[in-house]
Amino acid sequence: MGFFDGKVAIVTGAARGLGYDYARFFLQDGARVVMADIQGDAVEESAHALQSSGEVLAVSVDVTSPASATNMAELAVKAFGRIDILVNNAAIWGDLQKISLLEIDPGYWDAVLDVNLKGAQCLLSQQIGVEPAYLQSGPASCRRWDYLQCHRSWTYLYGSFSTPVSA
Ligand SMILES: NC(=O)c1ccc[n+]([C@@H]2O[C@H](COP(=O)([O-])OP(=O)(O)OC[C@H]3O[C@@H](n4cnc5c(N)ncnc54)[C@H](O)[C@@H]3O)[C@@H](O)[C@H]2O)c1
Repeated sequence: MGFFDGKVAIVTGAARGLGYDYARFFLQDGARVVMADIQGDAVEESAHALQSSGEVLAVSVDVTSPASATNMAELAVKAFGRIDILVNNAAIWGDLQKISLLEIDPGYWDAVLDVNLKGAQCLLSQQIGVEPAYLQSGPASCRRWDYLQCHRSWTYLYGSFSTPVSA
């Protein structure tokens, strides 16, 4: 028996890095996993690599786009019938240009903020990961979300108060 048996998890930014590891972790613990990333080909390859660990679906998504987020959720529900967990992991992080804020191109900085700061809210505003039954059960069940998101303080705070996740 896995801790996440019967659950469906979406992990954004899952083509590589921590997102890939989150996906592997959920699969090992029994969840069905939607691996989502803006790098469509790369996330396909990553999902293929984890296929032997469980049921996994690769989806191309841009977390700054509400339409793309909705499409991801629809594909997840079509494939697995439900969404229980959303890990807002996607970020411009490994590829982040290491230059001074004084020299940074304003358009690039906007793009970084759109993904790293607003991306999580974009997905949450589409109600992805929200389960009506959870809403009635109260905030205590948010703890797993908090645990998974503790590396992203903004999302951590938002999740603590607003994000329903049943795990
Ligand atoms: N690696 C670390 O040491 C570290 C430390 C602190 C926090 N973090 C956080 O962990 C998370 C992942 O870190 P990582 O090191 O795995 O980063 P990474 O750069 O290796 O991976 C980020 C993934 O997000 C994807 N992505 C970027 N923009 C996207 C978009 N608009 N829509 C969908 N996907 C998009 C990228 O394609 C990539 O696959 C980030 O939220 C980062 O802030 C990481």
